[in-house]
Amino acid sequence: MAKPIYVLNGPTLNMLGSREPHIYGSQTLADEEAMTADRASAFGHTIDFRQTNSEGQLVDWILEAREKACGIILNGAAYTHTSVALMDAISASELPVVEVHISNIFKREPFRHHSYVSTVSLGVICGLGPIGYALAVEALSDYLAKHLGS
Ligand code: DQA
Repeated sequence: MAKPIYVLNGPTLNMLGSREPHIYGSQTLADEEAMTADRASAFGHTIDFRQTNSEGQLVDWILEAREKACGIILNGAAYTHTSVALMDAISASELPVVEVHISNIFKREPFRHHSYVSTVSLGVICGLGPIGYALAVEALSDYLAKHLGS
């Protein structure tokens, strides 16, 4: 059985749809999940889509992915900018990670311009809105096909 892509979402992303819609839009996290699953299936992959407000839980899921997933799409939300723990977990996972942000973090406050996650990720998709998750699936699928033959 092929391993899924883990799609991991950090703090406050459970509020998508009602949280600052002028920044994050009106789609809910459930909408994101459906769109990401659709795109994954078009590329012959499945997803395991999760959200937590806890940094430790994200670390545990990234480490779990090392054995159980073929790659990770990660929107670490605010922990992106603060968490050496997330960065270390990604390195330890030895998996390709595509970092996603719904908003353009470089157009926002200076503290959002640095990402610990980017330093250990395959690439970053940011500022394109919810479609970023679907684009990340496409990028990861392409990488996996080229590097792992899957
Ligand atoms: C975010 C950007 C982060 O700076 C912010 O803390 C979030 C969401 C995004 O998807 O645009 O919670 O990751």
